[in-house]
Amino acid sequence: MTGPAQWSNHLWLTARLYEPLWRRHSVALMTGRSFDTARELASMHKHLGLPPGSTVVDLGCSAGLYARTLAAAGMNVSAVDVSRAFLAEGARLARREGRDVRFVRADVLALPFDDAAFDGAVSGGSLNEFSDPAQALREAARVLRDGAPLWLMYAARAEGVAGRALQGALRASGLRFPAPAQVDAWALAAGLTPERSERRGPLVFALYRRGGGLPPLATTSPSPGWDRPTPRRNRRFNWERESGARR
Ligand SMILES: C[S@@+](CC[C@H](N)C(=O)[O-])C[C@H]1O[C@@H](n2cnc3c(N)ncnc32)[C@H](O)[C@@H]1O
Repeated sequence: MTGPAQWSNHLWLTARLYEPLWRRHSVALMTGRSFDTARELASMHKHLGLPPGSTVVDLGCSAGLYARTLAAAGMNVSAVDVSRAFLAEGARLARREGRDVRFVRADVLALPFDDAAFDGAVSGGSLNEFSDPAQALREAARVLRDGAPLWLMYAARAEGVAGRALQGALRASGLRFPAPAQVDAWALAAGLTPERSERRGPLVFALYRRGGGLPPLATTSPSPGWDRPTPRRNRRFNWERESGARR
């Protein structure tokens, strides 16, 4: 389903205001200031663990915050989005900052790249907007070389009643809020092994790795109830929570 959340991405004003008014503050707002965008970017960089010169793709890049950050670290970045307005804004910001990013208009559900073309992939907040997140993860896995990392940030299904009510309203605008176990299941089915996952408020910051010793599972079509509550037995992939690691 698509809705106002997706349509508004094509507006020039949304593209211009998204990063300064929302993106730069939203992580701190949603995590109750336990984590902010600067820490998010540092964490992404650290967990990707890629050297300068690595090829990286930013999936659903909007104005390219992740893409520009990685380009600043000397990576060779392709940034993909369907919105011309966001791609133009990303190119404008990259030019202003002197970053070399290749902005590509494409659908993440059918990426215009060869198999194993990238050393890493990132996607910040976009999984909530993709119409078929399982297919987006299959495409991410396809374009990653074996052993390459995928960094994902997304808003997960809320655990409290108030959060669920708010997400119910936001769903009407076309956004989706998957349970982390569901995202892990899609990733595993695509051939991406969950490696690390940290939840702060509604946000999940997760690292996956292409291959990782597990063969891809049989793939399934997205089911209409994909964001229903997480069955307990599927929680095994949230290692940080299970191991009691710091959150
Ligand atoms: C929440 S924004 C992403 C924010 C950005 N990644 C960041 O970290 O600032 C979601 C973006 O995904 C894009 N998008 C949604 N569906 C897409 C698709 N099927 N293919 C490519 N881009 C898509 C939208 O145009 C929008 O720019």
